[in-house]
Amino acid sequence: MADSISLRVSRYRPDTDSAPHWQEYQVPLRKEWTVLDGLNHVKNEVDTTLSFRWSCRMGICGSCGMNVDGEPKLTCGTFLSDHAPGPVTIEPLSNFPVVRDLVVDLSDFMAKLPRVKPWIIREEDNRTVEPDVEYLQTPEELDAYKQFSMCINCMLCYAACPVYGLDPQFIGPAAIALAERYDLDSRDHGKRQRLDVLIEHDGVWGCTFVGECTRVCPKHVDPASAIQRYKLTAALETVKAFLLPRGAR
Ligand code: FES
Repeated sequence: MADSISLRVSRYRPDTDSAPHWQEYQVPLRKEWTVLDGLNHVKNEVDTTLSFRWSCRMGICGSCGMNVDGEPKLTCGTFLSDHAPGPVTIEPLSNFPVVRDLVVDLSDFMAKLPRVKPWIIREEDNRTVEPDVEYLQTPEELDAYKQFSMCINCMLCYAACPVYGLDPQFIGPAAIALAERYDLDSRDHGKRQRLDVLIEHDGVWGCTFVGECTRVCPKHVDPASAIQRYKLTAALETVKAFLLPRGAR
C-alpha cells in the first residue's frame, strides 16, 4: 500500500467565488484512517481555511456527511484505504446549498421536520392521557419502531434522492422515516395528524420508489418502505371512503 493518497476537494466560498473549484491535498494513507481523518490532517497541518462539519467521529451525530467519489457517505465511517490508490474526490452533499467548501445549509430539512411531529403525541380523539403515568413497552413493541429510531439526520438520503433533487418541495425521506418511527410507537396517538401531512401534494406521492434513500442510509433505516406503507394506507382510506357508508368506516 502506498504511504500517501491524494484528496481532491471541492472548494467554494459563495461570497467570493463565482463557482466551485478543485484543490488537491496529499495526506498519509494509514490503514485505520477515515476520509474524515484525512480532512482533519489537511485542516490541522496543511490548510486551515478548509471548512467541513464533524463532531462525534463514530457515526452518531450525523454531521460529517459528504459525497465521497460521488456517493453520499459519513466520512467518519469511510476508510481512505477503500478508495486507494485515489485520488479521492470529496464534495458537499448534493441537493443542498453550499455555505462554504464542504458545509451545506440544512435549513430546508429543519423547517420540514416539525411538520411530521417527530415526537410522541399522547392525546387524540378527545382522549386525555395522564401526563405522569408510566407507559411501559414490551420488547416486541420496542422492536416495531427501533430501526426507524436509528435515523441520525445525516441527510445522506436527501443527497441521494432524485425526487428531492428535482423538486425541493418534496418533504423527503428522513422526515417520512421519522414520522414512521413515531407512528409505530405504541405510546403514540398521532397517526392521523401525520398522515394528513404526508398525503399533501409535497408528501409521499412525489416518491417514485427509486430506493436510493434506503441504499445509502448508514444506519440501515428504510425510508422507501415507510413511504410505500403511507401510500397504501392513504389509498385504502380513499377506497373505504368511496365504498363504505359513513357509519361503517
Ligand atoms: Fe458524527 Fe461522523 S462525525 S457521524
